This record gives sequence, C-alpha cells and structure tokens, in this order.
Amino acid sequence: MAPLTILAHPDTRLRTPCAPLTAFDADLARLVADLLDTLKAAGGIGLSAPQVGDLRRVSVMDLAGDRTAPEVFVNPEIVARRRWGIVEESCLSVPGVVGNVLRATRVLVRAADPAGEPFERELEDMHAVCLQHEVDHLNGKLFIERLSPIRRLRLRLEDARARRRAAAAERQAGRRPA
Ligand code: NI
Repeated sequence: MAPLTILAHPDTRLRTPCAPLTAFDADLARLVADLLDTLKAAGGIGLSAPQVGDLRRVSVMDLAGDRTAPEVFVNPEIVARRRWGIVEESCLSVPGVVGNVLRATRVLVRAADPAGEPFERELEDMHAVCLQHEVDHLNGKLFIERLSPIRRLRLRLEDARARRRAAAAERQAGRRPA
C-alpha cells in the first residue's frame, strides 16, 4: 500500500459521476487501504476514489487528530438531512481555496462496508459536512460549485489569470508556439 497522487481541479475525472459499486473484492480492499494511506499522507479528513482517478463509489474519512478513526463508505447515500448551517470547507483537489458552503449538519447515511455489509449511521457536525462533501465527489461535483456566485466568479478570474501566466511562461521557455 502506498499513498497515491491526488488529482487536482480542473482534471475531468473529478467531474465524472461514479456508478454504484458491485464488486466487493480484494481489489476494493486494496483501493480502501490506498485511500486511507493517501488521506493520512495528505493530512486531510476525507478522500474519495475519483480524487485518485478511480471511478468507484468509495469514500474514506478520518476526523480523529491522531488518525485512529478511519471510516469507509461504499455506495454512500444520504437519506435524510436536518439542521442546515454555513460551514467553511476546503478540498485536497482544490489547493489553496477555502470557502463557505451551505450544508446539513445532521445527516442519515446508508452505505456498505468493504465486505458489502450494509449499514446506516447518523452523522453530526463535521462528520455530516465531510460526508456530504465526499458524496459530492462521487457525483462529480466539487465544493467550489456550491460557493456564492460572486466567490465563484472571482475564482474563475483567478483561474484564467493563472492559466494565462502559465501559457506565457511556457511560450517564453519555447515549449509552445505563440
Ligand atoms: Ni474534497
């Protein structure tokens, strides 16, 4: 098991909805172990398979400061949402961006464990928020799409500026015709 490379926005694999997983096999166990290793190495609290380029509906979380509470959700489905709040989020696939998002702070999730055993769990606060963020990943959605229109516009302008700067630098290095 080794930490995998985390894809960064605007990689199209981050925008691809994942189909429900049906094969609860050794390959899934390997993916889960790799996701947990990658999450730990990156110092994050949640990670989903599409973030490492694997389009299976699998998310892992670990909200314990000492990394001792790994949780695995296969085919997670949010079946109830309660108590909404504005929360600050960031994402390992969108480096450098922090923003406020409207989320339920209490959710009921239905999922399966890596052996295919179904379970239901009620999650609160950061747990609930993190799970909604991960389910978004499985649906090909990033948290920046949930930011306010003005914030999104500002990010798009910054993106365009960064792309222009990168293109200019490449032209200068002679790697791309002007
Ligand atoms: Ni994320």
